[in-house]
Amino acid sequence: MTDTPRTSEPQKYVRFDALQRFQHIVFLISFTLLALTGLTQKYALAPFSLWFFNLINGIETARRIHHASAIVMMIISVVHVLDVTYRVLVLRNPISMIPWIDDLQHVIHDIQYYLGRKKHKAYYGRYSYAEKMEYLALIWGTIVMGLTGFIMWNPISALRFLPGEAVPAAKAAHGGEALLAVLAILIWHFYHVHIKTFNKSMFTGTLTREEMEHEHPAELALIESGKYHKPIPAEVIKKRQRVYTPIAAAILIFFGFGFYYFVGYETTAVFPVVSETVPVFLRQTATPTLTPTSTPTSTPTLPPTETPLPTVTEPVSASEAPSPTPQPAVSAPSWDGQIGALFAGKCLTCHGAAASGGLNLSTYADALKGGVNGPFFIPGDAANSLIITKFESGAHPYAQLMPDELTLIKEWINAGGLEK
Ligand code: HEC
Repeated sequence: MTDTPRTSEPQKYVRFDALQRFQHIVFLISFTLLALTGLTQKYALAPFSLWFFNLINGIETARRIHHASAIVMMIISVVHVLDVTYRVLVLRNPISMIPWIDDLQHVIHDIQYYLGRKKHKAYYGRYSYAEKMEYLALIWGTIVMGLTGFIMWNPISALRFLPGEAVPAAKAAHGGEALLAVLAILIWHFYHVHIKTFNKSMFTGTLTREEMEHEHPAELALIESGKYHKPIPAEVIKKRQRVYTPIAAAILIFFGFGFYYFVGYETTAVFPVVSETVPVFLRQTATPTLTPTSTPTSTPTLPPTETPLPTVTEPVSASEAPSPTPQPAVSAPSWDGQIGALFAGKCLTCHGAAASGGLNLSTYADALKGGVNGPFFIPGDAANSLIITKFESGAHPYAQLMPDELTLIKEWINAGGLEK
């Protein structure tokens, strides 16, 4: 709780108390889950992501884990704010995380050291400038991710106050900041605490005297001079706690209800409407209406034309004129005809070699093998075929089939689901 490092056993200096270590571990777990379930959604078609979605039974699970971890992170952030205000307002600890003039001096000193002009690095206090920057980056990142995440989670409410561009902008910022945060952790944080020196104090709570000398010499000197922290009389602390506790409790309750309300508030993003199939591209049927207008002054209509309408078939032999009419409707759809090509165009990103759900649609033979839940189709019985039930129930959010495509597939299955 206090910044007063007491010597618990000889040569050990308390650096982080239990609550601080608890905050770190909760943040670490929620951060990792958010990164895993977030980056796989950002790069949803990468082989690893597809493998991951298969493993956790679909992208929907990833979204749920992402939302749950986000709530955990928000709660631990509120706990952190209350913890810091307690230290500063009640215990009157120095605000040790804000960069100050001496940090700038340390930076200049260290640059000179790296240039060979100084014999040693700067003597850091409780936190070095690098640690302060990392901490502030974390705070900034959490705020950015929280706000942009909120906009994506509750787009309709957010757009009551913001212009529509806010949603794609939030998405871009959320993904970019995520990548930045993950790389900062993997490169910067891991280098400083695991590779350069393996500093375990965030888990054990303490540093040895040797580690203190090496990493926080100015703090060590202050502790040993006995001037580190003036003890505050217990009554004074009690008095301050009487003010602090009710305010902190009110804030905690406010945020507790706030999060509870927030989670169930808007269901747009939580339960996307996946079963809806909307024909987006309609084939244009050009039928110029040749209404014989009597008045020549009327609006320019199509002049009477000699060009035959597409439906008019001149009695010419087939060899002379390439007819625009499609193939005779008598031939039933087959895999080699249209069906195979339809799947190739829409499904192979995931059902090619990657075989999501165990299903490979590359060739007719592959399709016959089916997926983890059995055959892909039952010849002659479209209504009970997996491909149809899956898409008609909306249980397959990864791809869409147009109503006419579904009809074609049903026709194909009912006609025996033939290859040729
Ligand atoms: C973006 C990736 C993606 C695309 C594109 C895709 N799918 Fe899938 N599909 C999956 C995943 C992942 C699963 C397994 C998880 C599940 O069943 O929800 C799956 C499962 C299936 C299953 C169930 C397999 C089984 O045995 O459980 C069928 C059937 C299916 N897909 C058909 C199709 C068809 C047809 C297309 C093309 C119109 C298609 N999919 C396009 C990702 C995709």
